[in-house]
Amino acid sequence: MKAVVCEAWGLPDTLKVKELPDLQPGPGQVVIDVQAAGVNFPDVLIVQGKYQFKPELPFVPGSEVAGVIRSVADDVTTFKAGDKVIAFVPTGGFGQQLLAPAQALIPMPPDMDFETAAAITLTYGTSYHAIVDRAMLRNSENMLILGAAGGVGLAAIEIGKALGARIIACASSDEKLEVCRQHGADVLINYSKEDLREAVKAATGGKGADVIYDPVGGEYSEPAFRSIAWGGRHLVVGFANGEIPKLPLNLTLLKGASLMGVFWGEFTKRDPKGNMANMRQLLQWLHEGKIKPHISGRYKLEEAAQALHDMAARKVTGKVIVLPQ
Ligand SMILES: NC(=O)c1ccc[n+]([C@@H]2O[C@H](COP(=O)([O-])OP(=O)(O)OC[C@H]3O[C@@H](n4cnc5c(N)ncnc54)[C@H](OP(=O)(O)O)[C@@H]3O)[C@@H](O)[C@H]2O)c1
Repeated sequence: MKAVVCEAWGLPDTLKVKELPDLQPGPGQVVIDVQAAGVNFPDVLIVQGKYQFKPELPFVPGSEVAGVIRSVADDVTTFKAGDKVIAFVPTGGFGQQLLAPAQALIPMPPDMDFETAAAITLTYGTSYHAIVDRAMLRNSENMLILGAAGGVGLAAIEIGKALGARIIACASSDEKLEVCRQHGADVLINYSKEDLREAVKAATGGKGADVIYDPVGGEYSEPAFRSIAWGGRHLVVGFANGEIPKLPLNLTLLKGASLMGVFWGEFTKRDPKGNMANMRQLLQWLHEGKIKPHISGRYKLEEAAQALHDMAARKVTGKVIVLPQ
């Protein structure tokens, strides 16, 4: 089988496509023929050795897939060859075959296509966990979203709308903001042209944002936090900008506001049942048409490095997908 292999830490163009031996399931495992794999910003960081965990070299990057089970270990009774499944794994997604523990699989709903199934776990799971479990967003609150046209950002818009919130979407271009509008954003702020604080003040009648969803960091976090409402919650989701910002702590006191860390991968390990409950709600919303992953690019396995490069270069909106077969 063919797979994208990371042999040394580096930029995406150092990745190689290689022919590897077919995979065999060990106890509790299945082998999946991967039909579609979602690309995520953490993949960009993982191949550079800059993420929260460092896999042992060499490894196949890619963490969310949809596919068809090829074989199962003798002790696996919950799934069989031929079943269509969704899997979230630390690594291994950008290959024609993936080894995954059976207990980490989600059966694919019959009405779902592989591309949608490969776009639903990481970004939507992260944004749901952040907005529902952490910020406890309430109906009719204002939620300000930075990097709103990106993977987790666009998922946050749709989840916020499904919960009845008013969404203020921020992005760096009018084209990206148009995608946000199409996915439900109520107010659009181009933070490469507009003053963020003034724009949030105008959008909220001076009250500020009840919840701030921040996957960007860098220069945007402090003006966003200074625009928070009394009792607001600022979700620290990521640092796509590359810079981890520092905030004066007196700002939390002045607004009775909270900074809330979000680490979805760790949450899935510590509370797998809670995560499965979240995924069931997301699949239900998908079925009802309340959420719909926006897939803006499709890449062959040989083009996976280009997919990561385009994401790092701020060129993509929503999700991009690798099609390994
Ligand atoms: N905490 C968790 O559990 C968790 C889970 C998943 C992802 N994350 C993190 O969340 C962040 C976003 O992930 P994603 O998959 O949504 O990525 P994405 O699709 O690439 O979106 C990131 C957005 O950040 C903005 N951005 C600003 N400066 C940037 C820069 N220098 N380079 C790249 N993007 C920049 C871009 O929007 P504009 O051009 O409009 O500014 C882009 O759309 C990443 O840091 C990722 O590691 C965290």
